[in-house]
Amino acid sequence: MVKTFNINDSVAKLVDKTTFLKTLNYIDSGQLKTPYLVIDGDKLARNAATIGKGIQNSKVFYAVKANPAQNVLDFLNRQGTGFEISSMGELHVLAALKIAPERIISSNPVKIPDFIAAAHNYGIRMFSLDSTAEVKKISALAPGSSVYVRLSVPNEGSEWPLSKKFGVEIEDAVSLILMSKDYGLNPVGVTFHVGSQCNNVYNWNIAVDKAGLVFDMAAQAGVSLSVLNIGGGYPIKYTRDVPGVQVIEQNINKLITQRFGKTMEVHLEPGRSMVGDAGIMVSRVTGKADRLNEKWLYIDVGVFNGLMESIGGIKYSYIVETTPQTAAKQNWVLAGPSCDSFDVIDKNVYLNEPEPGDMVLIISGGAYTISYASEFNGCAIPHTVIV
Ligand SMILES: Cc1ncc(COP(=O)(O)O)c(C=O)c1O
Repeated sequence: MVKTFNINDSVAKLVDKTTFLKTLNYIDSGQLKTPYLVIDGDKLARNAATIGKGIQNSKVFYAVKANPAQNVLDFLNRQGTGFEISSMGELHVLAALKIAPERIISSNPVKIPDFIAAAHNYGIRMFSLDSTAEVKKISALAPGSSVYVRLSVPNEGSEWPLSKKFGVEIEDAVSLILMSKDYGLNPVGVTFHVGSQCNNVYNWNIAVDKAGLVFDMAAQAGVSLSVLNIGGGYPIKYTRDVPGVQVIEQNINKLITQRFGKTMEVHLEPGRSMVGDAGIMVSRVTGKADRLNEKWLYIDVGVFNGLMESIGGIKYSYIVETTPQTAAKQNWVLAGPSCDSFDVIDKNVYLNEPEPGDMVLIISGGAYTISYASEFNGCAIPHTVIV
């Protein structure tokens, strides 16, 4: 019986047609067993060429945590992108690709000491911080480095908030800048993160304003800052439309030029928006069951081996392989392959009924999927292929 991928109108509006068709071609080639992640190289290149272009005097440092697959990093390296890293593991992948240290920064405000020393040894000289302990660590392990302070900013409207763990208020930011100077470091600016998958464009207004106050107060105290690092946060289309990169950057660029003039060096750290919508996760149905009043559908990628963000607020859209005779749509509880009850990806997923062995495609699956994945219960981590 002929099977087709049943794509409804709302999902058709969200997925890039070429990315979808390239994924189908790759599936047809039968080269890999599911689960795997297909990254559309053309879309990735377009993202790399677009992000940051709307902000004057900007440099882009791809947040490696979003997808650290070596082929993805190699690809982005060839696009000329810089990289933001947090750990020794991320440093090792970039070192294997011989990426120049000037193209790497580290914005993890609390870093493992061995990593600071290794990064400094590699030649990296840009580190973020938000505590006096980190000033002392960096001055001892990466003496003379440039540092920028992580400011606390609103994350309202972000589907993956990042506000609680890091960031200081304005007065503390200024104190840390002055302390860094006393410790022989070179304080260059401020960073913030408006929260990942940020649908609220106004978060950047408050963040840029707060950063401006830190710049003013530092200048009054005799330290002139020159770098504004605006982190990541640009949203992608999962289950609905979102503000586009151009719209967001037009707003940010206006805010920055109004507040700082045209000479500010602006750093961006896109993760999700760089790789997320360039990727489609390809999985297969492993089973079905009726449990009480619920219909359960099991697939070979789940919370532990790729879709961890589904338990933290990210909802995905799905495309299932079905026959024309397939039963009408209904709500499914969608679960992953492990034996753990936490391995439930979503409830009330409205899909046509597939059979075990049929494929389920998860759109916008390129970011924070394989980077979070573990081999819990022996379930395979999806390979990443670029097509
Ligand atoms: C310091 C830092 N920079 C950049 C990013 C990337 O953010 P996003 O994926 O929302 O673009 C993150 C995400 O956690 C981060 O912690």
